Amino acid sequence: MQVTGKVVVVTGGANGIGKALCDAFHKAGAAKVVVADMDAANARAVAAMVDGAAFRCDVAQEKEIAHVIEETERQFGPIDLFCSNAGIGGGFDPMSVNAGGASDEPWQRSWAIHVMAHVYAARHLVPRMKARGGGYFLNTISAAGLLSQVGSPAYSTTKHAAVGFAENLAISHKAHNIKVSILCPQGVDTNMLRSIPKGPQSVDGDLTPEQVAKDVLAGLEQETFLILPHPQVLGYMRKKTENYDRWIGGMAKIQAKMREEFGK
Ligand SMILES: NC(=O)c1ccc[n+]([C@@H]2O[C@H](COP(=O)([O-])OP(=O)(O)OC[C@H]3O[C@@H](n4cnc5c(N)ncnc54)[C@H](O)[C@@H]3O)[C@@H](O)[C@H]2O)c1
Repeated sequence: MQVTGKVVVVTGGANGIGKALCDAFHKAGAAKVVVADMDAANARAVAAMVDGAAFRCDVAQEKEIAHVIEETERQFGPIDLFCSNAGIGGGFDPMSVNAGGASDEPWQRSWAIHVMAHVYAARHLVPRMKARGGGYFLNTISAAGLLSQVGSPAYSTTKHAAVGFAENLAISHKAHNIKVSILCPQGVDTNMLRSIPKGPQSVDGDLTPEQVAKDVLAGLEQETFLILPHPQVLGYMRKKTENYDRWIGGMAKIQAKMREEFGK
């Protein structure tokens, strides 16, 4: 897909990777870039920068996603590309005292934002896309959804679920010309990454959000399902599937090292 002339929505577009995506889509000639974010002030600032539109939207609420879709199509025409990009860190525990955590709250919040938001976008857009002969979903997930993230069970688990949903979305609607890409970087230099201590997610170097946005444009052009700004992730995935037990052992060593460092 070429984004030139397309109507694009980016959730979590007010900051970080989403902001860089908005800028890259605008520079590539998108007809309209819609920034949907809980951070209304920065959403408006990004919309002003890209000559777009801003919506205050909590992606955890189905009716708010439905509203963004409805209003975008009413004001600017059919959405060609919907980017579910909003995400939260939360629940990081380097000591991993108990992978199950102490309460449901971080699990439910991560589930709502990382999984159900993607489900809601599909629920309200797939019928429209089917009726007009196609469309495109880009879901920002993470390498944590393919591998894992030491110290972050809720993040890793919900990002895995997001990969599962994206696969099923692509399988269910290939026949309807609905395309899906998943964006799975390791460390990217954003507020989210800065809010947790440096860790294994940065082992191959943190990328800038602008570099990631460039990789997204290339991935969309090629219409590849898996967009990996850190190409090393493919090698780690292969190692994981080649010998799952050895991979778990390696990850447990990283966990032990982390406990040692944080326990000092
Ligand atoms: N930064 C990284 O290292 C990294 C790595 C892999 C994947 N990711 C993923 O990239 C995506 C973007 O993260 P980022 O690094 O740019 O972080 P960020 O904190 O800079 O931006 C996240 C944006 O999402 C918005 N947001 C959060 N909850 C929301 C909600 N309920 N409704 C609407 N908007 C909401 C925030 O207001 C913010 O603008 C996330 O899905 C994240 O999990 C980030």
